[in-house]
Amino acid sequence: MLCIFGISGDLAKKMTFRALYRMQKAGTLDVPIVGVALDDWDDEALRSHARAAVEATVKDPDREALDAMLARLSYVQGDYGEAGTFERLKRALGDAAQPLFYLEIPPSLFATVVKGLGQAGLVDHAHVVIEKPFGHDFDSALELNEELREVLEEGQILRIDHYLGKEPVMDITYLRFANSILEPIWNRNFVSHLQMTIAEDFGVDDRGRFYDAVGAMRDVIQNHALQVLGLIGMEPPTGNDPDSIRDQKLDFFRAMRAADPERYVRGQYDGFREVKDVAADSTTETFAALELQVDNWRWAGVPFFVRAGKCLPTKCSEVTAVFRRPPQLGVGHGKTAEPNHLTFRIEPEPGSRMRLFQKRATGEEFEPADLEVLFEREPGSDPEPYERLLGDALNGIHTLFTRQDTVEQTWRVVQPLLDHPGKVHPYEPGTWGPAKANDIVKGITHWSDPWLPGT
Ligand code: BG6
Repeated sequence: MLCIFGISGDLAKKMTFRALYRMQKAGTLDVPIVGVALDDWDDEALRSHARAAVEATVKDPDREALDAMLARLSYVQGDYGEAGTFERLKRALGDAAQPLFYLEIPPSLFATVVKGLGQAGLVDHAHVVIEKPFGHDFDSALELNEELREVLEEGQILRIDHYLGKEPVMDITYLRFANSILEPIWNRNFVSHLQMTIAEDFGVDDRGRFYDAVGAMRDVIQNHALQVLGLIGMEPPTGNDPDSIRDQKLDFFRAMRAADPERYVRGQYDGFREVKDVAADSTTETFAALELQVDNWRWAGVPFFVRAGKCLPTKCSEVTAVFRRPPQLGVGHGKTAEPNHLTFRIEPEPGSRMRLFQKRATGEEFEPADLEVLFEREPGSDPEPYERLLGDALNGIHTLFTRQDTVEQTWRVVQPLLDHPGKVHPYEPGTWGPAKANDIVKGITHWSDPWLPGT
């Protein structure tokens, strides 16, 4: 049994019904679904809302699969603060032995709902999926966890970071550990620095209220960016137990130095303050650029540069390792070749590219020669992040969910930046953020142009 709190909300409309429909079509959904929300709906109202949501997000949905998914839905109306809501839910759950509760509700209500579930005796063999953000800083993440742990064991809490459900993010782990040629060069002896970019070419649209309270650091860097860097930088997992990767990521984050506010630049796109529900004098960042350092044997002294933002020139998400420059020798007219790059592209068109240099055919100059691998895809049928993560949660597979120890470490790393955010610099939409962001990489490198399809 799957039970979704916040079924009438925006995330359900944009993502969840689509994921449930896709799971139904792929044959991986075989449980009844109860939706809970405050709206005065009944089963039929929920079904017609869900139908419209699928039709708006899936091109030509398969009628049979859609009807079968809708037939699984039923509705419980209620206020999350009232015991009666949970009594009604208990009746709807019947004798479900291991329910999965998915909380896609405002973070301020996580603890209320979990308490309500506990008081109604619904959590004994249950698992609870919690949407991000998990806390808004280090202390609040601890507090939230304490509240949840009054009712649940750590192993019952599944903290979602949808980036970990992206196929190309999983591809990173495969590329690193299915190829022994990478390991000898994957360290400070060969890598000069790393760069990660998460760029979006649109603004905050109708999410002004949410975003103004959060900003780029909390929205994508503390979670998505750091989780990806964890996979890029961790030691090889040992053994096959479900925690082997999560343990290595934890060690990597433990070795990460608390970020330095002097190595942090925030930007805000012109026009952000005019977005509905954004304060007219908002200083929230819609762009962030920073340097991170990892004090371990593999990475000491190798800067990890990260930038993320809204209203940038393109939508892309990638990580590049930049290798050390070769020495200047008697080739290339005495010039030094550019360093080699290895890029993992998460979006668009997932793949990886090793940039080598060769001799230009008609001259003596260096010319880029790229080895490109587009990750294996089955267009249309690859599981999407929410589909994958909900499926894993229903099947009791927890590997792709974040543990509390890791969440705490990532908040520890960014906490100095939250405490001392510094000034926010305006930038024009469609540019790579404020010019000040170049200070972060100055003297070491420049921000690399993203690897886009066809370039
Ligand atoms: C979400 C953020 O977690 O991730 C959004 O709240 C952001 O602001 C999104 O746009 C990016 O993820 P994706 O998968 O849509 O690229």
